[in-house]
Formats: sequence, structure tokens, C-alpha cells
Amino acid sequence: MSWPVLTGPRVTLRVLTMADVDAWLAGDDEAQQRWFEAPGPAPRENVVRLVETSRNSWETSGPKRHWAIWLDGILAGGIDIEDRGQGSAYLSYVVFPPSRRQGVAAESIPLVTTWAFTAWPITRAVAVIDELNTASRSTAERAGFLFEAVADPSEYGESGRMLRYVLPRA
Ligand SMILES: CC(C)(COP(=O)(O)OP(=O)(O)OC[C@H]1O[C@@H](n2cnc3c(N)ncnc32)[C@H](O)[C@@H]1OP(=O)(O)O)[C@@H](O)C(=O)NCCC(=O)NCCS
Repeated sequence: MSWPVLTGPRVTLRVLTMADVDAWLAGDDEAQQRWFEAPGPAPRENVVRLVETSRNSWETSGPKRHWAIWLDGILAGGIDIEDRGQGSAYLSYVVFPPSRRQGVAAESIPLVTTWAFTAWPITRAVAVIDELNTASRSTAERAGFLFEAVADPSEYGESGRMLRYVLPRA
């Protein structure tokens, strides 16, 4: 089965394989743990499960599609989008510390939203972001998302005050 590889000027997005587990583990850090509310560094089995569920979702045309982000041959992070029905698909992203502040998220987000607007009958992409996560809020805004409202608890699993940013279909 061939799964989409998305390419920008500098980044390449492709589906994770088991060969990427160690590189993914090496990218973990406190910022990632804080904003995804992980109790500590991800155990190896969680990353193995991420690879398995990600590949399974592509195989079965599931609602969530995940890509690893590569920059100059280095695993730089990951990004996923989930079709939750009612015209909305929810985006989530992480860039690993050595690759931050180089425009990796800024380049990757439009590749994924463009893919989703083409593949799915959605009218908007949504990002739910902790109001204290200034890096992620700036990143969403840079990608054209606009603050819409405080998110509904049904939209997220984290604690804290979460904000809904929306990118409408062009
Ligand atoms: C949020 C995150 C994905 C940003 O990735 P990145 O590749 O470093 O972001 P970019 O370099 O593409 O920056 C995009 C915009 O956000 C801004 N930005 C990025 N990090 C920032 C920071 N720490 N503080 C303030 N602004 C920041 C950039 O300046 C840029 O805006 P500009 O082009 O107008 O200058 C990354 O910091 C991360 O993985 N954080 C931990 C996990 C996380 O919070 N994920 C999101 C959960 S909702």
C-alpha cells in the first residue's frame, strides 16, 4: 500500500516505521511532556504503539492520520490530523528540540491541512491549545488559524484552559 509522502521546500512528511522508534524516543523533552500531559519520558512501548496505531490507521482508512516530519534527513517531529465528523478535523503537532524555531511546524502544517481538505469532506481544521502554550499558539496563528473560542471539554483530554483555533477551508 502506498501512503502519501508530503514534501515542502525543506521538510518531508512520511508515515513512521519501527526503524524510527529510537529517533522518536530521543526527541522527547519536558515541553512535549508538559503540553501532552505525559507523566515523564515516553516508555519505548508507547512509541512502538504509536507506530503500530499510526500504520494501522493508514491501512484501515481510519479517522486519524499521522506523519513523521523529516528535516535534512533527521527525524524532526510528528503531526497528525483526525476527522471527528461534523466537518471538523483536529490537528496536533510536535517538533523535537534540535529542530525547533526553524519553521518546521510552519512548513508542515499547511501540507497536512491541504491533504485533509482534499481527502476529506471537512470544512475546517481545528487546533485545541492550552492558553499558556505560547509557542503552539504562535505556530497555529502563523499557519493561518484564528482563535475562535474557549474549547469545549469534549474536544480535549488535557487539563488547563484550552483554546480553539480554526482554519476554515479556503
Ligand atoms: C509548538 C511547536 C510544535 C513549534 O514548532 P516549531 O517548528 O519550533 O515552530 P516554527 O519554527 O514553525 O514557528 C512557528 C511560529 O511560532 C513561533 N514560535 C515557535 N516557537 C515559539 C516559542 N517558543 N515562543 C514564541 N513563539 C514561538 C515562531 O516564531 C513562528 O512564528 P513567526 O514565523 O511569525 O516568527 C514546538 O515548540 C513543540 O513541539 N512544542 C512542544 C509540543 C507542543 O506544544 N505541541 C503543540 C501542542 S497543542
